[in-house]
Amino acid sequence: MAKTIKFIQKTSTIDVRINVTNNSEELDCLLISDVHLDNSKTRRDILNNHIKEVEKTNGIVISGGDLMDLMQGKFDRRSSKSSLMDIHKIAYIDDVVTDCSETLSQYNVHYILLDGNHETSVLNRLETDPTRRVCQELNNKGITATYGRYQTFIRFIFEKGRDRKTFTLAFHHGAWGGKITKGVLSVIRYASIYPDADAVWSGHTHDGWYVTHPQYKISRTGKLSQRLQHHIKTGTYKDEFTKGHGWASEKLVMPSTCGGFLMKLKYHKKKNESIITPEFKSRLLAFDS
Ligand SMILES: [Fe+2]
Repeated sequence: MAKTIKFIQKTSTIDVRINVTNNSEELDCLLISDVHLDNSKTRRDILNNHIKEVEKTNGIVISGGDLMDLMQGKFDRRSSKSSLMDIHKIAYIDDVVTDCSETLSQYNVHYILLDGNHETSVLNRLETDPTRRVCQELNNKGITATYGRYQTFIRFIFEKGRDRKTFTLAFHHGAWGGKITKGVLSVIRYASIYPDADAVWSGHTHDGWYVTHPQYKISRTGKLSQRLQHHIKTGTYKDEFTKGHGWASEKLVMPSTCGGFLMKLKYHKKKNESIITPEFKSRLLAFDS
């Protein structure tokens, strides 16, 4: 393999250092969120297909929160026995953490796991950190994995000799949904909050879209240029709607979008400069397709 990948975890950022030997190199990152792995309605078969795709290219899987559902605890008013899988019925939190790390450890990929409200709800009430625990269990199994919080900046740094080129992804688990707008108006909000990010990613609302936001840049020498800021919203893997009845069908009405995006970063070193060209490939689909 012509590249090596190393994670450096800091307070608000995660650096992904990609050491390359060729003048051209690619890195595949699967952006997924809201997997809700321990929920009985979660489509593990679709998740498996999506992770297997990046496994082929030595890629990274980045989970943008709510990897675990964790709603069936004793003190959770949202708990419902029908949503509980048989393997999670003894020491509930421990069982979910172990099942999650065992499931993810089947794949030969790197992982970055980030918090969602389902993980921070457990962290805040029970003082145990599910995201960190899954990450540690993966590390114990020899898998390269790191974790970050509800808002995290991921810097992809391609290094070839003395040449360094960085692509910055701003992540927030998500806010601002909308039945009609699907939360797309948040693009302008996120653009103002994260002006320096090359791409901005959120989940949480179980919508899926990609929107470009062009911006003007003026260099120190006064040269005017444009760039695209890329905005991504990833869906879910929990199918609450196919049967047409139940809490979600009654209260939320509109089916959720399944899946996420494959972010391909293409590094190319020229004589005097290097560039990173991102591509965002939809891995969104309807649950019954
Ligand atoms: Fe969420």
